[in-house]
Amino acid sequence: MNRAPGLSVRLRLTLSYAGFLMVAGALLLATVWVFLLRDFSVVSSRPGEFVPLRSVILRAYAPATAAVLAFLLVFGLLGGWILAGHMLDPLTRITYATRMAANGSLSHRIRLPGREDEFRELADAFDTMLARLEAHVAEQRRFAANASHELRTPLAISKALLDVARTDPDQDVGEVIDRLHVVNARAIGLTEALLLLSRADQRSFTREPVDLSLLAEEATETLLPLAEKHGVTIETCGDITPTAGSQALLLQLTMNLVHNAIIHNLPEQGTVRVSTGVRPETVVLTVENTGERISPQLASTLTEPFQRGTERVHTDHAGVGLGLAIVRTITRAHDGTLTLTPRSDGGLRVTVELPAMAPHTDR
Ligand SMILES: Nc1ncnc2c1ncn2[C@@H]1O[C@H](COP(=O)(O)OP(=O)(O)OP(=O)(O)O)[C@@H](O)[C@H]1O
Ligand SMILES: [Mg+2]
Repeated sequence: MNRAPGLSVRLRLTLSYAGFLMVAGALLLATVWVFLLRDFSVVSSRPGEFVPLRSVILRAYAPATAAVLAFLLVFGLLGGWILAGHMLDPLTRITYATRMAANGSLSHRIRLPGREDEFRELADAFDTMLARLEAHVAEQRRFAANASHELRTPLAISKALLDVARTDPDQDVGEVIDRLHVVNARAIGLTEALLLLSRADQRSFTREPVDLSLLAEEATETLLPLAEKHGVTIETCGDITPTAGSQALLLQLTMNLVHNAIIHNLPEQGTVRVSTGVRPETVVLTVENTGERISPQLASTLTEPFQRGTERVHTDHAGVGLGLAIVRTITRAHDGTLTLTPRSDGGLRVTVELPAMAPHTDR
């Protein structure tokens, strides 16, 4: 922003200090004068001769008063300049850090030493903001790199398939088409997941009354054939759980969780339990499943985009690792909380807690 140049804060503080010192000094000297003039009216300089005291005092003290005031002015200006500089020093460091951040260097921190005061509070708040910004930017960069890598993989596979088909005339065309179809479907799935992620992140959806228990039922019904294929039994239970949000996004959230619970389960005789419940201010959807043991450290990273748990799980399921990231984004967009807890005998318990719908909109 272009502004007209003005007096610096340091100069203004200096002038104020000096001004106050002058006023205080002048008042003190004036008080001394008033007392002197009141207490002595006349004085004798020679026997029998009387001289008015006022003129004597004026002659004797006026130069001294002027000298004291001049000294106070110089002292005020000099001392004020040094003091103001000292006071404003933290501000210079904060400004420098702000400029560095504006130029793209988010790793610089102010780290103002000393005890707590207004400037240090501001500097600490600024450092915290920089740390969060830096983490956010790093996350975005990681996301972009991972997304590009994931999108490149199906394209590279398609290219390899096409190259082989072109150079080898004996290739079974039907087989190539089938494989291309699978690779293409995967690329479309990934792109759709990315689009969904950005749509949910923008919160550009209308809120309508939603019952989570109905969504849980719908998701389990849709995924029942998949569960049967994996030898997993699903159990659903729970109360009516009224909340407000996007029906489509919350269904997607439930589907992702139930899908995960089926896919990342035991190789045989796995179980999944989907339940819904109402708490005083919130509604809760819980999806629990049996499976491999998961450490709390691993569980805390699973919601990161493109994060897949153990390698072994991916022998038959080529997920991209966006399912839980989408669940997290949809939960956040609905002002809810997502909790992943490893179960003690293996598997995972995922809880989504959303604000309950206010009674007056409950219809
Ligand atoms: N219910 C669960 N039980 C055990 N592990 C799970 C469960 N849900 C997720 N995981 C682990 O977390 C990882 C990330 O899950 P996420 O849904 O984000 O990706 P994905 O299932 O691998 O791929 P997709 O993008 O197709 O969903 C999974 O690879 C898996 O290792
Ligand atoms: Mg998944």
